[in-house]
Amino acid sequence: MTRSLLRFAPRLVLFVALSFLGPLVAISQIQPASNPQLASKQVNDRVEALLQQMTLDEKIGQLVQFSAGYATGPGASNLKYDELAERGQVGSMINVVGAEATNHYQHLAVEKSRLHIPILFGLDVIHGHRTTFPVPLALAASWDPAAVETVTRQSALEARADGVRWVFSPMVDIARDPRWGRIIESSGEDPYLGSALARAWVTGYQQDDLSKPDSVAVSVKHFAAYGAAIAGRDYNATDMSEITLRQVYLEPYRAAVGAGAATMMSSFNSLNGIPVSANPFILTKILRDEWGFDGFVVSDWGAVAELINHSIGDGPTVARKAIEAGVDMDMEGNLYGTVIAAQVRSSKIPASVVDEAARRVLRVKFALGLFDHPYTTPTPAYDATPERRVLARKVADETLVLLKNDPVAGVGALLPLTAKAGKVALIGPLADNQRELLGAWSGQGEAKYVVTLRQALTERLGDKLLYAPGCGLLPGEDNQVLQEASFNGAAAVGHHAPLLDDSQAIAEAVALAKKSDLVVLALGESSAWMEGEASSRATLGFTGAQQQLLQAVSATGKPIVLVVLAGRPLEISWAAQHIPAILEAWSPGVEAGHAVADILFGDVNPSAKLPASLPRAVGQEPLYYAQLPTGRPAHGDLSHMPRDAGEKFMSRYMDVDNSALYPFGWGLSYTRFTYTQPTVSRAQVPVGEVLDPAHKSVATVGVDVKNSGSVAGTEVVQLYLRNTAASVEQPVRELKGFARVTLAPGETRHVEFPLGFDQLNFYNADIHRTVEPTTYKIWLGGSSLATAETALKVVE
Ligand code: BGC
Repeated sequence: MTRSLLRFAPRLVLFVALSFLGPLVAISQIQPASNPQLASKQVNDRVEALLQQMTLDEKIGQLVQFSAGYATGPGASNLKYDELAERGQVGSMINVVGAEATNHYQHLAVEKSRLHIPILFGLDVIHGHRTTFPVPLALAASWDPAAVETVTRQSALEARADGVRWVFSPMVDIARDPRWGRIIESSGEDPYLGSALARAWVTGYQQDDLSKPDSVAVSVKHFAAYGAAIAGRDYNATDMSEITLRQVYLEPYRAAVGAGAATMMSSFNSLNGIPVSANPFILTKILRDEWGFDGFVVSDWGAVAELINHSIGDGPTVARKAIEAGVDMDMEGNLYGTVIAAQVRSSKIPASVVDEAARRVLRVKFALGLFDHPYTTPTPAYDATPERRVLARKVADETLVLLKNDPVAGVGALLPLTAKAGKVALIGPLADNQRELLGAWSGQGEAKYVVTLRQALTERLGDKLLYAPGCGLLPGEDNQVLQEASFNGAAAVGHHAPLLDDSQAIAEAVALAKKSDLVVLALGESSAWMEGEASSRATLGFTGAQQQLLQAVSATGKPIVLVVLAGRPLEISWAAQHIPAILEAWSPGVEAGHAVADILFGDVNPSAKLPASLPRAVGQEPLYYAQLPTGRPAHGDLSHMPRDAGEKFMSRYMDVDNSALYPFGWGLSYTRFTYTQPTVSRAQVPVGEVLDPAHKSVATVGVDVKNSGSVAGTEVVQLYLRNTAASVEQPVRELKGFARVTLAPGETRHVEFPLGFDQLNFYNADIHRTVEPTTYKIWLGGSSLATAETALKVVE
């Protein structure tokens, strides 16, 4: 058999096996090659010709990655990289940025090493490279794959100019627990939204051709289920059923692989007792045999060496387990570089395992065109040009979620603000802090480019704007820590507001509020210190004295607009009860101030929707709308059980409602959208038709959406389904479609969604995606509380 047939053999076996399982199993479980470029003969011929010439040490050299710049994790190895590069023992480098630095190592590898194999330079590009866009969770709030593509295109261009060919992005982990700081890097709680955006991240970065001069390869992370860390504590174990794993957590990774992702990153966590970075079920059976993944897997930072801490063996053992499970490259652990060769020589590890890993890495290098164009042409220094700012502002405008805009007696709704606003007091530790507004993990982004809220509101209001910081971001002593903290090198140092005496600062803020007609409060948490990796929290309120500040300013009786700046859903119950207008602004990037002002003044009508539920209390976490049913549903959950139904012995909390404070999909506009009764094109469909891969869609569901207000606006129309009679219980609601629709005042648009296997399937107890006879309840609307309802029957 030829090599390529051998590569496809597992898929063929699976295909044949599943074909015998009858109509219950849909053929769409079988994936074609994940990336045609990586599977191409041209690439593979070049790989095989090179492999033939390589020594064992040179092959292992392709499987190691070193961090030669700053460190993004513990224990960087500090080796003599120049010498290693000359010997062909540096397959990849991370944290080396810029044409000069990357070309330095590349010249050594290409000109001095025996086989002239170029180094692959990878970098964390999380929400923009030099131009900082809103954080990924904010981007998810846009529900706009095109906006994500704007970000990825710009990031790819800027990264390429800095010699970067490979980005450690996107993070597509489902995140249902905001205690986990990395929720900021995610697309939130939902697998459907997460998958749609995962595809956009991948295609934006890679386009349809890895070798284009403005393409970069992605590394989809962190495979798999890293977002389900127990208790929201970073790096913690995960434990879940295979059905939940596949139906919820794996879906966005599967979508990313389907979109052609060139590499995946194995995660730190263990899953059901087996560390993922040594887990053949995840890294080989699912990723390669089922999904047909053709790229390579890099470990997360030091994750191979950390397998020792997981207590599954000593160094040589864990390295063997990792490479045999399917981790092809060891990121900054240097275990592969030191312990694999001896084990191959003593036949503990088959040589074919190393060959296959090297083959996968080289395949990506060839597909990227790295052998043909290994160097980077130096370009003029980066500048945040007006064009880049226009892009960043446009994207940020789409990410701000208007949570609340209740009328105030005698004034009406506070937002949008008008010229009549009078004197405005802008108060809060995040109102004028460039570093904090830049957001967590902003990579090469620079705080000096950030337009703060204070700057942007001053542009509009001149001396009618008053400002006070109000308090520090963290409790006193921790503020001191924050001043001195250094995360990702020097990025965090020296950019923070001066230390404040909180009581005095609150008193000054209250005095300022009293002198003004309206207050804009900018509160949240420290992005530099409390968001992103290694930033779990056990509480979810505003940090430091901010809650005191909020209550003290509220006691003045002045109308207040609260702008929440945070990389996670915070617990803002008090504010939701007492403050009339609340805007969830996340970390909006370099155009932070302008974007917030655009929404506050109504130049832009808010359209964003929550990608993750905001809790009433931290004890509800993990909180998400797509819960499984219970035999004792309580009021306040999505099943809307009436309050008088014997509340004591129901599945509920005694002190807060089950429901979210603001649920998934929620977000207001300055106009109103009304929905008609939805209709389904067919009342019932035979199950055989749904299972037949020839039919992508077996029916459509449609609804008329009208802009019933007086200003133009964009609505994110959302489709939710509930399977009411499956052999395995199904969530009370699941998102299965969405569309952004822009409507002029008075305009009506008919919006339709397909219904087919992709929308209707679930995993049965035998772990097959299937559809059974049942009735699907269907809702359409502007959030997960959608009420316009219809149904579709699937019959024998
Ligand atoms: C993170 C990854 C990141 C890697 C390289 C790890 O600590 O978990 O998301 O890509 O470091 O910086």
